[in-house]
Amino acid sequence: MNDGGQRQFGPLGKVLVIIPTYNEVENIKPIVDRVRTAVPDADILVADDNSPDGTGKAADEIAAADDQVHVLHRKGKEGLGAAYLAGFAWGSEHGYGVLVEMDADGSHQPEELPRLLTALKGADLVLGSRWVPGGRVVNWPKSREVISRGGSLYSRLALGLSVRDVTGGYRAFRTETLNGLGLGEVASQGYCFQVDLARRAVEAGYHVVEVPITFVDREVGDSKMSRDILVEALWRVTGWGITSRANKVLGRKTL
Ligand code: GDD
Ligand code: MN
Repeated sequence: MNDGGQRQFGPLGKVLVIIPTYNEVENIKPIVDRVRTAVPDADILVADDNSPDGTGKAADEIAAADDQVHVLHRKGKEGLGAAYLAGFAWGSEHGYGVLVEMDADGSHQPEELPRLLTALKGADLVLGSRWVPGGRVVNWPKSREVISRGGSLYSRLALGLSVRDVTGGYRAFRTETLNGLGLGEVASQGYCFQVDLARRAVEAGYHVVEVPITFVDREVGDSKMSRDILVEALWRVTGWGITSRANKVLGRKTL
């Protein structure tokens, strides 16, 4: 990972907070309100996968009353990765300098976003991190914590990454950084999308900074974590690990 020590970082530009949603009808209004209060200058893009519970319609109603809120309607459930890629493309086309990833369910506290953005002034990518000193999780079942810590540890070892929270989903990217990650080749659909982007950023030599966050488990609605998502993560991370090691041996660049 690049230490960023000698680098000059440009101004951040306008901030877009991308919130992917699938069946978050009860969460959408509270989270949008919290983001608008915590970072009044930032715009919001809700990327909804045609949620059967009407989240997309609820988001449209919010957007109709607030021109800093936008909605991207997608045709059906295609996974977190695809929703973010569509959101990044929208944000990049609309000239935002910073693209933020945030869950709809309140796990990523908007009140912590100013700290992430401050750190981004001296970085290419900021990861909200549960597993650095000062970071923590609240209300998570032990089983979920074990999966998450295990997933981060396995990814770090398989990929040789020094990042602590490789799977986290609360992040602030400079748009320029995303443009340098080869997003056209990203095939990850589920939560391994986060691992994929982190490894690409490190591999590309970007200065990645982890900022401690308090992750609060959702109170309303259900997690979309599934067996399929875990299986996808396991085989993809293992595959990336094998490829990056082989490339190191052969002296080739991975990406
Ligand atoms: N558009 C869209 N399409 N949104 C989705 C989809 C999808 O297929 N699947 C999930 N989401 C949305 C949810 O509605 C929510 O806003 C956000 O993505 C995160 O989904 P959760 O189901 O709440 O995730 P989680 O709490 O289990 O997992 C969180 O922690 C993981 C790390 O342990 C997320 O932040 C993951 O990104 C992260 O990897
Ligand atoms: Mn969640």
